[in-house]
Amino acid sequence: MAAAELTDDGRARVLTDGNQIPLLALGVWQVPDGPECEDAVRWALEAGYRHIDTAQSYGNEGSVGRALRDSGLSRQDVFLTTKFHPGRRDPAAELQRSLELLGVESVDLYIVHWPQGGPTRAWEGMQRARDSGHARSIGVSNFGVSDIEAVLGVADAPPVINQVQFSPFEFRRGLLESCERRGVVLEAYSPLGTGRHLGDRQVAGIAEHLGRTPAQVLIRWSLQRGLVVLPKSTHRERIEENAQVFDFELSDEDMTALDGLDRTGATDRALERPWW
Ligand code: A2P
Repeated sequence: MAAAELTDDGRARVLTDGNQIPLLALGVWQVPDGPECEDAVRWALEAGYRHIDTAQSYGNEGSVGRALRDSGLSRQDVFLTTKFHPGRRDPAAELQRSLELLGVESVDLYIVHWPQGGPTRAWEGMQRARDSGHARSIGVSNFGVSDIEAVLGVADAPPVINQVQFSPFEFRRGLLESCERRGVVLEAYSPLGTGRHLGDRQVAGIAEHLGRTPAQVLIRWSLQRGLVVLPKSTHRERIEENAQVFDFELSDEDMTALDGLDRTGATDRALERPWW
């Protein structure tokens, strides 16, 4: 890995700004605000997750904040990510609203959710959010290589993270290698293909011979490819299952077989069909 190394316990990476990010997070995309979201976050924290990934556009920052407070964990023990909704004007002002909803003084990571209005449009405001101390690290999401290059061209504080859709079936090798060279760590959202990849025959075969589940195999693949990984679930037993991924390894042969499932042609793009 070029710029960002693993910590000694193998559970986090050191970002190029010096901050550490836990490799496993609970993602709460499409989890409704209220008890369902609070339960999911609570169960994740009880199962040992120390990284929660939300966004302004998810509408559930309030629930994430309540679950965090109720957990009794210290603020510094949980890595908290939210994302700037790029349809809004000012990232720094929007972060203030997020902090109120989350009930915290700062987030650990604040990222531009997608490159609406052009890849550099929000970056000045993101840097202001960082300079104010309200966001410890800043990054982007759904940015392809050309978008990242544009941001690096104008940045005083470069993005340290790019969160993209990533799995063996969306193995964006060109994007991964380019980001690693530039010191940008990739985060995998939808690592289970929003559930679609769990029924794949090859994934199931590897899971069976290892005595693991398809979800664990897919999550482990992302970890071994150097990514931070954000599986989503609202079921307690699945949240627990998805965290049992640090006590086994996929062989080179299994990794190669999974790599072969890629349908993107090793692209350096973040998405096949942008929605903005
Ligand atoms: P649910 O939330 O009902 O548990 P992704 O992380 O790629 O977005 O995938 C999330 C989807 O996969 C959700 O529909 C989630 O369902 C399902 N899911 C998450 N973990 C597991 C698991 N361990 N086994 C089966 N399905 C899972």
